[in-house]
Amino acid sequence: MIEVKKKMMKIIHNVFEMQKEANAMRRAGKRIGFVPTMGYFHEGHLSLMRIARSRVDMVIVSHFVNPIQFAPTEDLDAYPRDFERDCQMAESDSADIMFAPDRKEIYPDGFRTYAEVEEWGRKLCGRTRPMHFRGVTTIVLKLFHIVQPDVSVFGWKDAQQFLILRRMVKDLDLPIEMIGGEIVREKDGLAMSSRNIYLAPEERAEATVLSMSLAKVHRMIEEQGILDSKTLINYITGEIDKTRHGRTEYVEIVSQETLDPISGVEKGKTLIALAARFGKARLIDNLRY
Ligand code: PAJ
Repeated sequence: MIEVKKKMMKIIHNVFEMQKEANAMRRAGKRIGFVPTMGYFHEGHLSLMRIARSRVDMVIVSHFVNPIQFAPTEDLDAYPRDFERDCQMAESDSADIMFAPDRKEIYPDGFRTYAEVEEWGRKLCGRTRPMHFRGVTTIVLKLFHIVQPDVSVFGWKDAQQFLILRRMVKDLDLPIEMIGGEIVREKDGLAMSSRNIYLAPEERAEATVLSMSLAKVHRMIEEQGILDSKTLINYITGEIDKTRHGRTEYVEIVSQETLDPISGVEKGKTLIALAARFGKARLIDNLRY
C-alpha cells in the first residue's frame, strides 16, 4: 500500500526568504492564493483559507499583528496570540506557507512610507480610528509586494476594510483578484472575531443584539418594503440602547461604491454597517443588501 504523506506547512519569518519561495512557486507555474491575518484563528479565518485553497495551487497565510493599524490607546499589546495553535489550525486547513515576519523585518528603523486610500479611511470606523486604515493599506500593500499573489481573500466581516483594499488594488493596477468571504458567525449569530474573548459573559449574551437587529432589518426591507435609512438606523440603535452594556458607536447605511450615506436602501448597492462597544470589546457587524 502506498502511504500518502501530507505535506508539512512551511513557516517563514524572513521577508527575503518569503520572496524567494514565492518567486520559485511562480516560476514553477503555480498560482498563489494569499490570506493576510493577525492570527488567533477562528472559523472565519479558516473559511478564507478554504476559499483560497479551492482556487489556487499554493496557499500562503500571513500572520502579523500590525502595530501601525493600532492607535496608542488601543489593544496592540493585549491582542490575543497563540502562534502554535494557529500553525496547527492553518496546516490542517492545508495552508502551504505561514509567513510570520518579525516586527523589525516589516518596519525597520527609519520606515516612513505609507499607502492611503484618500477619505475612505476617515468614514465609518475611521471616524474613531483615523489612522487605522492607513495602517491596513500600508501593511497589505507591503505583503502584496512580498508575496505577489494571483488571488487574495478577505472577510466581509470587515466590509470597510475589504472595500478600501479593493479600491487600492484597482487604483494601483495590482494584478490581484480580490475575493470576499461571507461572515462566519457563532451559533447565536455573533460574528466571529478574535476580540470576542474580551467579552464578559453578560456582555457576550447581550452582543447578539447586533446580528439579531441586522437580521430583523433584512426582514423589514424584504417583507415590509421599508427602505428608508433613518427608520432602519433608528431601529438598530434603539435595540442596542435597550441592552445594559451596549454603546452604539455608529450605525450607517452607505453606498458600497462610495461609502457615502444614502437616504434609502438600494438593492445590490447597500452596506448597513455598525460598530458598538460592549465593555472592553469594540464589535463590528454589517449587512450587504
Ligand atoms: P484579522 O482580524 O486577523 O482578520 C483576517 C481576515 O479574516 C480579514 O480578512 C477579516 O475580514 C477576516 N475575518 C475575521 N473575522 C471573520 C469572520 N467572522 N468571518 C469571515 N471573515 C472574517 O483584518 C485583519 O486581520 C487585518 O486588518 C489585516 C487585513 C491582516 C491587516 O493587518
